[in-house]
Order: sequence, then C-alpha cells, then structure tokens
Amino acid sequence: MIQRAVYPGSFDPITNGHIYIAERAASIFDELVVGVLENRSKTCTFNIDERQAMNREALSHLPNVRVKSFEGLLVDFMRAEQCRVIIRGLRALSDFEYEFQLALMNRQLAPEIETFFIVTDAKYSYLSSRSIKEVFHFGGSIQDMVPPGVYRRLRERFPPKTIKGPQ
Ligand code: PNS
Repeated sequence: MIQRAVYPGSFDPITNGHIYIAERAASIFDELVVGVLENRSKTCTFNIDERQAMNREALSHLPNVRVKSFEGLLVDFMRAEQCRVIIRGLRALSDFEYEFQLALMNRQLAPEIETFFIVTDAKYSYLSSRSIKEVFHFGGSIQDMVPPGVYRRLRERFPPKTIKGPQ
C-alpha cells in the first residue's frame, strides 16, 4: 500500500522553511501531496496559480511530490486524495497552540486522519511567509530565505523602486 501524506498550507509564498519540511516528509512517505489552500475570502499576495507555480518550481527536485490546490475543508481534500496523514511544520512553541487546535478540529471532523508534526531546522525557526514579505518590503535581504522563483516574483510584484536599500 502506498503511504501518502498531505502537506497543506497557504504558501503565500513558499519559503526555504517549507521546502525543508517537504523534503523531510518526502523522504519518509512514498508520495507527498502539497495542498495549496485556495481561500477566496482571504486576501493573499499571490493568487492560487502563482502559488502553485512557485511550489512546483521549488519542489521540482523531489520526484514523489505533487502540488495540488484545494478549497473548503482540509479533511475533504484528504479524503479525496485517499490520504490519512497531514504534515505540519513546527517552528517554535508559539506555533503549537494554533497547530494543536487545527489538529484537534481535524480529528473531530475526521477521526481516521492523523496529524504528524515535523520540527523545522533551527536556521529556519524565525522564517514565515509574512515576515519575508515584510523584510523584502522594507528593503532587507531575503535571498537566503526563499527559492529563486519566489525571489524573482517578489521583485516583479514589488519593483525595487518601491523599496529602500539594496535587493
Ligand atoms: O499555511 P497556513 O495558512 O498556516 O495553513 C493553514 C491551513 C491551510 C492548513 C488551514 O487553514 C486549513 O486547513 N484550511 C482549510 C479549512 C479547514 O479545513 N478548516 C478546518 C480546520 S480549522
């Protein structure tokens, strides 16, 4: 039987921290489905097509990874993918409360589904999609924090003239 896991998220945009979690999960499971949430009520910097394209580029070195978008409940996506394992990354204790709630809500909705947590590498513990966008916006260097395709798109979306300092 194929052991498949789903790694869901907003990925707005994917960071090197996300890639690290995907690499570790892909080394354990036969197949990893990266589920990109299409949330019409939440405003994302990048639309669903852009986020999927960035994820595909950034994860193209992992042959057992598939990137798919989903709408609605994660547990419905899990069932459609015939998958019982959710992968979530943990950076710090501050992530835990939110992740705990998410995992318990998903268990309430679908008791057969289990959430597995993968701890990030210490060097990514401060990274989040939101913080890299903020640092970039104010002219800080983020090249070591995101894959090249994300860096390129951030520069296209927020041209250097709108930011301070070298990029
Ligand atoms: O990267 P994120 O934004 O922390 O990921 C959160 C995500 C996408 C995993 C979560 O918001 C989610 O699963 N959304 C789908 C809706 C859902 O299933 N909600 C029920 C659990 S609260």
